[in-house]
Amino acid sequence: MTSIRPSFIRVVFTAIALGSALMLSPAAQAADTSAAEQLQHWSAQAGTPGNVGKGEVFFNSRQGGEWSCASCHGTPPTTQGKHANTGKVIAPLAPAFNPKAFTVIAKVDKWFRRNCNDVLSRECSASEKADVLAYLNSLK
Ligand code: HEC
Repeated sequence: MTSIRPSFIRVVFTAIALGSALMLSPAAQAADTSAAEQLQHWSAQAGTPGNVGKGEVFFNSRQGGEWSCASCHGTPPTTQGKHANTGKVIAPLAPAFNPKAFTVIAKVDKWFRRNCNDVLSRECSASEKADVLAYLNSLK
């Protein structure tokens, strides 16, 4: 068996460290949207502007299942929420109280998909998303 030189091992380790740093950094998720832009986007998709009152009712209502949006995000969602199942702390959903809310498209899409499924057993429609955003953006 040939012996592996320490310098070679150092190079390999440096490469692994650099590689994982590079792979991890996109997970920090650079901001690529905003709450205002999300409201605009979903209103355009719905063909009608998001409605604050409808969003508030939607957010606080159970839709046939065990949970409403408020079950985990609290009401109004201006302070930390708490996962109804796991107790995990959730940062405030209202953008005025959480500068990171609605700043990463992939995150917004992922959680809309997952949470709407948990609450409605289906995706939220574009107009439901627009209404929720209008409501959240109205909280100051
Ligand atoms: C079972 C608990 C639970 C319920 C019910 C729930 N959510 Fe969430 N939601 C979470 C968690 C956990 C996160 C991720 C928080 C984090 O990591 O920052 C989240 C994040 C989100 C995000 C991403 C926000 C961002 O930072 O960009 C949106 C949008 C969202 N939820 C909308 C909703 C809506 C709309 C409903 C109701 C249809 C709802 N949620 C119901 C647990 C829940």
